[in-house]
Amino acid sequence: MHAASADSPERQQILPQEPAALAALGGAGARLGMPRRPIGPHGPFRRAALWVEARQRPAGPNAPSLGEALERPTSRERILALARWAPSGDNTQPWRFEMAGDSGIVVHGFDTRDRCVYDLDGHASQLSIGALLETIGLAASGERQRASCTRRSGLPDTMPTFDIMLEPDPGGCPSPLIAFIPRRSVQRRPMATRPLAAEEKKALEAAVGPAYGVLWIEGLSARLQAARLMFANAKIRLTTPEAYRVHREIIEWNAGFSADRVPDRAVGLDFLSLRLMCIAMKSWRRVQFFNRFLAGTWLPRLELDWLPSLACAAHFALLSQSEPTTVDDYVEAGRALQRFWLTATRLGLSLQPEMTPLIFSRYVRQARAFTSVAAAWRQAEMGERRLRRLLGNEAAPRTVFMGRIGAGPTPVWRSLRRPLAELVIRRAASLPARTPPPSGGGS
Ligand SMILES: Cc1cc2nc3c(=O)[nH]c(=O)nc-3n(C[C@H](O)[C@H](O)[C@H](O)COP(=O)(O)O)c2cc1C
Repeated sequence: MHAASADSPERQQILPQEPAALAALGGAGARLGMPRRPIGPHGPFRRAALWVEARQRPAGPNAPSLGEALERPTSRERILALARWAPSGDNTQPWRFEMAGDSGIVVHGFDTRDRCVYDLDGHASQLSIGALLETIGLAASGERQRASCTRRSGLPDTMPTFDIMLEPDPGGCPSPLIAFIPRRSVQRRPMATRPLAAEEKKALEAAVGPAYGVLWIEGLSARLQAARLMFANAKIRLTTPEAYRVHREIIEWNAGFSADRVPDRAVGLDFLSLRLMCIAMKSWRRVQFFNRFLAGTWLPRLELDWLPSLACAAHFALLSQSEPTTVDDYVEAGRALQRFWLTATRLGLSLQPEMTPLIFSRYVRQARAFTSVAAAWRQAEMGERRLRRLLGNEAAPRTVFMGRIGAGPTPVWRSLRRPLAELVIRRAASLPARTPPPSGGGS
């Protein structure tokens, strides 16, 4: 790792260069210099698909940008404008910012347990909030500042709130991860199967810090085992009304970019499957019809779960030393996951979280009835056993985050973020309601 100088490309990425980061997303596969294979993430088929996607990308005044540049941003605004690129489940962005005094920030976190079957215990949101806090610290280092962070006591778990104090740190070095904050993005399409190099694994293991370990699931037979788990798990997502309601809320249709949801083109389906899904998802009755008479779960499960589970270098599990239970445990884990993900981006590796098997297994362990569909509960129980076989009885409950990783092109289509002006609130009273906010804060 090297320290970036004040004018290094890393530092220049902080805010006004956001559109440049967007440009860097397009056609990235071509630059990777990977061997050409007919099938796979770098073969001619995938390149042709990327070309078609690039042609479909909106251009001109309506083209989206990675975020509006503020006219004369203060360093605090620059820090927040960069930090809002932290990942969150379904791009919910479960945070709002309040400016406190001259150099303080209050981060008002919330969760989506009242409307999201993947967040019934708030842990997915807490992981995201941890990723945000870590990103604030990294962004602050780019401003030669240090961010000290304290969680407010006495508030319910549904409102994790943090007081952040920014202090000058003239001797500090900007983090080398800064440049990768806006570039990091989830890749839901196939990746290269080239095994990770020893140095890559070493850098990723170092990134999570001494409090966490990384379990690697590598080799064809282990990836096959992961693929079976993901394929079976996806049936729960596609056959329960609780998950349907979430997907209907969080997918933005006919979109390559979305500021507050996941654009349909980033979901990982080909054009035809996407059209079918769009038609089916108009109502729960349609979904049930597709599932019963048209084998509706097979195509998406093959394309979104089975194939990508095989088309990657490895699956990984981030392990904490003991089973996480508190808000602080999950916030801390979120910090580690963001360092892991940014380091992967820095190494030119793509990543996709695979959180739903972990979440449903936790619900099974907690006996939390997350669905009205009895068959789905039985599938979740089976999934919990499969997960323990894959990760080990001892490691499975300590897993805070899971995903797949591998070399490959950066995604063309991606989630953007809400503008900073929308994320900054005047008082906690202006926090999004606990029902889906009209333009406020949703795997
Ligand atoms: C805690 C957490 C859980 C997530 N779970 C999943 C998941 O199970 N599957 C998936 O494809 N993406 C998952 N994501 C990725 C988010 O959907 C993604 O980060 C978000 O839509 C923003 O997009 P970006 O990462 O491309 O900026 C997860 C992200 C976080 C932080």
